[in-house]
Amino acid sequence: MSNNIYLKMRKSIILIPVLLLCFSFVFQSLQAQNTPPPEWAVCAACHTIGKGKLVGPDLKGVNERHDKEWLHSFIRSSQTMVKNGDPVAVKLFEENNKIPMPDNNLTDEQIDNILAYIENYDESAPAAAPVTTTATEEAHGEETTFEDAAPGLKGHNKYGPGDTKPTFIIFLILIFVALLDLVFFKIIKARFIHIIIILVSFFVVGEIVYVEAKALGRQEGYSPDQPVWFSHKVHAGQNKIDCLYCHSSAMQSKSAGIPSVDVCMNCHNVVKNGKKTGTEEIAKVLDAWNSGKPIEWVRVHNLPDHVWFSHAQHVNAGKRECHECHGQVETMDRIVQVQNLGMGWCIGCHRTTEVNFKENNFYQEYVNFQEQMKSGERSRVTVDEIGGNNCQSCHY
Ligand code: HEC
Ligand code: HEC
Ligand code: HEC
Ligand code: HEC
Ligand code: HEC
Ligand code: HEC
Repeated sequence: MSNNIYLKMRKSIILIPVLLLCFSFVFQSLQAQNTPPPEWAVCAACHTIGKGKLVGPDLKGVNERHDKEWLHSFIRSSQTMVKNGDPVAVKLFEENNKIPMPDNNLTDEQIDNILAYIENYDESAPAAAPVTTTATEEAHGEETTFEDAAPGLKGHNKYGPGDTKPTFIIFLILIFVALLDLVFFKIIKARFIHIIIILVSFFVVGEIVYVEAKALGRQEGYSPDQPVWFSHKVHAGQNKIDCLYCHSSAMQSKSAGIPSVDVCMNCHNVVKNGKKTGTEEIAKVLDAWNSGKPIEWVRVHNLPDHVWFSHAQHVNAGKRECHECHGQVETMDRIVQVQNLGMGWCIGCHRTTEVNFKENNFYQEYVNFQEQMKSGERSRVTVDEIGGNNCQSCHY
C-alpha cells in the first residue's frame, strides 16, 4: 500500500550497507560504466541530469555549484539548513516555490556514489533509462482505472449539458393521459385533439432520445468538476512531470489509466501546500491516503461500449502524441475533451496518417507494401490501407 518515499528508503537502508559490503567489487565495476546507484531512484522522481527541471532543479553541474560538505548536509536534510538560515539553501528553497526536498537517510558513501553518478553522467548515453523506469514502475505498482476506482462511474455522463429529463417525463405522461382518455374516459369528445397531443408528444420525446443518444460519447467541450482540484497545468505544465509518470499504462495497454493515491503521495507526503488552493485540496489527497479510500475521479473521455480503442496501439505502435487527441493538456487546470471522439474523427485520421512501416516488424506480413516501398513505387502507407477503417477493427 504505502509507496511512501520515506518508508521505501528506510527499507532499502537496511539492505544497502549489507549489499555494499558484499558486492563492493561488483559495485565499482558498475560505477565504471556509470550505472545509477540504487539510491538514485528516489531522487529521479524529482530531478533529472541535463534534461531540465522537474519538481527540483536539474542536477547537472551540481558538484561545481556547491562544495562537497554543503551537498552532503543538504541532501541529508535540506530543511534543517533552510531553518538554520543557510543563505544558499534558503535561496534555492525560495526559487523552487518553497517545495521542501524530503530528508534522505543516507551514508556518506551513498551520497558520494550519487554525486559521482551525477558528475560522470553522459547525457547522450541511455544509461539512466533503467533507473527511471524502475522508479516509475514502482510508482505505478497499484494503478487504478476508473472502473476500479469508482465502480459504476463509466457512463455517468449519459445526461449531457442541460437536463432534459423533466420535459421527457411530462410528454410521456401526456401521451399516456391522451391514450387513456381516447380509449376509456372519453372526456374530450373531439378525437383529433388526442391525435395532435400524441403526435406532438411523440415528436418531442423522439427528439430528446435522439439528442441524448448522440451526446453519449460525443462530449466535445465536456469538463466535469472533479473531487479534488487536480491541475494538469500545475503538474504537467509548471512542474514538467511526464504524462507517462502518471499514465504509464498508455504504452502497454488499452487504457492509459488514472494514477492511484500512492503515486500522488510520492510527492505529497512532502508537498503540502499549493499556490492556488493552499492546503485545502492537498489535504483531500492525504485523507484519501490515510483512509485507504480511492479518489473518485469523474471520467471525461468515454467511447460507447461497442467501440474498441487501444492506447498502446496509438501511442506505442502508432507513435501518436497525447496532444493529437487530447489537446494541450499541460495548459489545462481542468481537463476538457477537445475532440468529439466520433467515428468520422477516427476514420479521418486513419485516412491521412502514415503507419510507421519501416521500424515496425509487426507489418512484415504486408509483403506487397514492403516491396513497393523498397522499389520507390509507393512512399507511404496509411492506416486505412492496413485495414484500420474496416468496421470490425473498431467494432466488436
Ligand atoms: C520530492 C522531490 C525531491 C526528491 C525526491 C529529491 N529532491 Fe532534491 N530537490 C528538490 C527540490 C524541490 C529542490 C530545490 C530546493 C528546495 O526547494 O529546498 C531540490 C534541490 C536539490 C539539490 C540542490 C540543487 C541545486 O541546483 O543547487 C540537490 C543537490 C538535490 N536536490 C539532490 C537530491 C538527491 C541526491 C536526491 C535523492 C537522494 C533528491 N535530491 C531527492 C526536490 C526533491
Ligand atoms: C501527476 C500525475 C499526472 C500527470 C503528470 C498527468 N496526468 Fe493526466 N490525469 C491525472 C489524474 C489524477 C487524472 C484524473 C483527474 C482529471 O481528470 O483531472 C488525469 C486525467 C487525464 C485525462 C482525462 C481522463 C478522462 O477522464 O477521460 C487525460 C486526457 C489526461 N489526464 C492526459 C494527460 C496528459 C496528456 C498528460 C501529460 C501532458 C498528463 N495527463 C499528465 C494525473 C496526471
Ligand atoms: C489516437 C488518439 C489518442 C491518443 C494519441 C491518446 N489518447 Fe487518451 N484517449 C483517447 C480516447 C478515444 C479515449 C477514450 C477511451 C475509451 O473511452 O475507451 C482516451 C482516454 C484517455 C484517458 C482516460 C482513461 C482511459 O485510459 O480510458 C486518459 C487518462 C488518457 N486518454 C490519457 C492519454 C495520454 C497520457 C496519452 C499520451 C501518452 C493519450 N491519452 C493518447 C484517445 C487518445
Ligand atoms: C512528482 C511530484 C508530484 C506528483 C506525483 C503529484 N503532485 Fe500534486 N503537486 C506537486 C507540486 C510540485 C505541486 C505544486 C505546489 C505549488 O503550488 O507550488 C503540486 C500541487 C498539487 C495541488 C495543489 C495545486 C495548487 O496550486 O493549489 C493538488 C491539489 C495536487 N498537487 C494534487 C495531486 C494529486 C491528486 C496527485 C496524484 C494524482 C498529485 N498531486 C501528484 C507535485 C506532485
Ligand atoms: C491522430 C490520428 C488517429 C486518430 C484520431 C485515431 N487513430 Fe486509430 N490509428 C492511428 C494510427 C497511426 C494507427 C496505426 C497504429 C500502428 O502502427 O499499429 C491506428 C490504428 C488503429 C487501429 C488498429 C488498426 C489495424 O487494423 O491494425 C484501431 C482499431 C484504431 N486505430 C481505432 C481507432 C479509434 C476507435 C479511433 C477513434 C476513437 C481512432 N483509432 C482514432 C491513428 C489515429
Ligand atoms: C476507426 C474506427 C471505426 C471504424 C473503422 C468504424 N467505426 Fe463505427 N464508430 C466508431 C466510433 C468511435 C463510434 C462512436 C461514435 C459516436 O458515438 O458518435 C462509432 C459508431 C458507429 C455506429 C453507431 C452510430 C452512432 O452514431 O453512434 C454504427 C452503427 C457504426 N459505427 C457502424 C460502423 C460500420 C458499419 C463500419 C464499417 C463501414 C464502422 N462503423 C467502422 C469508430 C469506427
